Amino acid sequence: MNFLSKRRRHAAARPLLLLLALLVVGVGYSVVSPQQTSADTDMSQQVEEGKALFNVSCSSCHGLNGEGTTQGPSLIGVGTASVNFQVATGRMPAARPEAQIPARTPLYSAEQVNALAAYISTWGAGVESPKESQYSPEGLSAEEIARGGALFRANCSACHGIVGGGGALPGGKYAPSLLETANIHVWEAMRTGPQQMPVFSKDVISDDDAREIIGYLNEAHSQPTFGGLGMGENGPVSEGFWVFIFGIGGLALIATWIAKKGARAR
Ligand code: HEC
Ligand code: HEC
Repeated sequence: MNFLSKRRRHAAARPLLLLLALLVVGVGYSVVSPQQTSADTDMSQQVEEGKALFNVSCSSCHGLNGEGTTQGPSLIGVGTASVNFQVATGRMPAARPEAQIPARTPLYSAEQVNALAAYISTWGAGVESPKESQYSPEGLSAEEIARGGALFRANCSACHGIVGGGGALPGGKYAPSLLETANIHVWEAMRTGPQQMPVFSKDVISDDDAREIIGYLNEAHSQPTFGGLGMGENGPVSEGFWVFIFGIGGLALIATWIAKKGARAR
């Protein structure tokens, strides 16, 4: 204290005090001020980014305000699940008119897809993209997966085939194979019904049912392994090769050994 009071009148005291006061106010403000301000600006930045993308690559077909044109439907109230499904599977932006808009390598990063979804949902909310707990088949019992299989056969296999291998539909259309489809997109397809596919609402396929169906598809599409050596999983040729080398080769070795140690050698 003595030290401070002695230097109270020092020439540098006032500016130093001012600096200290500013520091206290600055730190105090950053602690007290609501964290939301930064979240809000992130949010509006995301919407702005989505708007810029939309105006360039979507508005020609869907209209500058998503109202729809002769080239594409209105997007008002479609929901983030539909935007994510359409853009993250590369269906959108559609390239040219054809019987069915196919899935392609997606044009945008996950961040850009989220930005588009955020912007489009400013016109009206719809079915939201699911949380992982809604589509992850993690922790399902064998019984529940079997139930998923029954649900799939009852609701989906008419178009997609018994194990989801895909199938043709009239008019040059087709139900695609589900072998490679990401779990989140299976969920979103059910809830949003893209193109010729019907919408399966919560009343028809509950959230639990949806997870079970996803669990079944995962199970049906995982490579069956029957134990033992995989031998490169290349089928009969590599298996035959192994039998030849180790089987015949081994027998030849044993035969030579017997011949050497055998009675006649003595
Ligand atoms: C060449 C025209 C064209 C362009 C460009 C285009 N779309 Fe589409 N979009 C369509 C058509 C046509 C459909 C309807 C497909 C159907 O259901 O048969 C559609 C459907 C959609 C749907 C589904 C709507 C629903 O009811 O669920 C979404 C979401 C969508 N588009 C988003 C986008 C976004 C985002 C972009 C830009 C990245 C984009 N589209 C660019 C033509 C286009
Ligand atoms: C009336 C026929 C029909 C039925 C029934 C049907 N789908 Fe589809 N499904 C389609 C068609 C057609 C498409 C292609 C839509 C597109 O490309 O936009 C499709 C697309 C999908 C996709 C997107 C695949 C991908 O890789 O992009 C998934 C996932 C899917 N269906 C799952 C299901 C599930 C699960 C069910 C049952 C709950 C079901 N579908 C029932 C016709 C059907």
